Amino acid sequence: MPNKPIEPFRIKVTEPISLPSLEERIKGIEEAGYNVFRIRSEDIFVDLLTDSGTGAMSQNQWAGLMIGDEAYACSRNWFHFEATVKHIFQKRFVLPCHQGRVAENILFSTILKKGDYIPNNTHFDTTRANTMHKGGIAVDLPCRELDDEESDFPFKGNMDTAGLAAFINKVGPDKIPVVVMTLTNNSVGGQPVSMANIVETKKICERNGIPLFFDAARFAENAWFIKMNETGFGKRAVESIAQEMCAHADGIMMSAKKDGLVNMGGFLAVNDEDLAGRLKELLIMIEGFPTYGGLNGRDLEAISIGLMESLNEEYLAYRTGQIAYLGELLRQAGCPIIMPTGGHAVFIDAGKLLPHIPALQFPGQSMTVEFYRRGGIRTVEIGSLMFGSVDPETGETISPKRELVRLAVPRRMYTNTHMEYVADVATEIVKDKDKLRGYKIVDEPDFLRHFTCTMQEITENPAGVVSE
Ligand code: F0G
Repeated sequence: MPNKPIEPFRIKVTEPISLPSLEERIKGIEEAGYNVFRIRSEDIFVDLLTDSGTGAMSQNQWAGLMIGDEAYACSRNWFHFEATVKHIFQKRFVLPCHQGRVAENILFSTILKKGDYIPNNTHFDTTRANTMHKGGIAVDLPCRELDDEESDFPFKGNMDTAGLAAFINKVGPDKIPVVVMTLTNNSVGGQPVSMANIVETKKICERNGIPLFFDAARFAENAWFIKMNETGFGKRAVESIAQEMCAHADGIMMSAKKDGLVNMGGFLAVNDEDLAGRLKELLIMIEGFPTYGGLNGRDLEAISIGLMESLNEEYLAYRTGQIAYLGELLRQAGCPIIMPTGGHAVFIDAGKLLPHIPALQFPGQSMTVEFYRRGGIRTVEIGSLMFGSVDPETGETISPKRELVRLAVPRRMYTNTHMEYVADVATEIVKDKDKLRGYKIVDEPDFLRHFTCTMQEITENPAGVVSE
């Protein structure tokens, strides 16, 4: 039996969920154009679409909402928020905004020129889209260790620092307004980045006069893995590790919907006064006055409390333990997964599990549809559907390295019984894997197509499902 982490909380409020019938699920996914983003949330039993904005707030956070000060300017919650962000993230200027992608938009709109490059250990999809939207070129530089799926190297989220140095040499520092590190590295499996890699990346940036920014959505989970797995950090408090990580960055882009433990919120934090001033101009135009940035006073309060709670070590042991538990159960079910499991999700390698489905028929999507049809479980494809891009020279579609399905676990929301249910459904899918079919896109937008596109199964026979 794998280690079962015990929830370090008891449940005070419940929200009912129920499993629709098989007929309803088959009809529901068909009506959604085989796109799980289009299914009504009430028709979902266990929702592992994302860990973003979906977690449960604590009693202190709910209490915090009651002391919301909704003044237009300089509310008391703003001062609490500003002090908390400065304390953890070690920056002089804090700019609130309503979620992470706004932070990206404001930053890139301000510092990026057409044709500039943004290197990143791996872009998340909104970061990539915001870069491209402003005429920039997103460059992914994940570390080499990532290629060995079975290796238990604990910091597979690292930046390929040799690759970064070579890339800067090649295009020149003037074409790179910022280097970004994503902590943890969501798109490659929620894998953490080591402190040594942060230090090395910072050195390279400093040598070339390029600022280093963190995409810090899961900073607390990253700090926990440093404590657990990096020599010299075992006895340190996670809070102080997080502070040390952040001290190496010149700026932070944050989606507080993850390790802020809230349903909505984000911020930018920077050290450069001139940059802060320029960012503020756009912030005021698109989000709001700089002491609320599109958020309510009560939201700022909940974030301030959530950020500190996310650094609680009992919570982090349970949080990462639950992900590892789900990972182990899925392995036992016969699913190839990215190892070691990261901080917020388990990633199934659907390309490996379903070799009969070519990348451009979206094996990850096939499995995602099957999780819903069989178990009312919502997961998300992270493969050619989300990240497939068209080569501007040849016009051919380029697939990412892997065709993954992400099972992201909301924070403090589902019990271990829910995890066991998911693994039971996975066992059934693995048994019938040869019956799963590929998909083709019927209708798609220009950017972030996975959110809204519709698809069709490539077969006369619907895949797999025979009984409840
Ligand atoms: N950066 C990372 C690493 C993210 O994972 C996300 C969102 C964002 C930025 C954007 O933040 O949603 O607040 O605008 N990730 C979610 C996910 C959506 O499902 O992984 P946002």
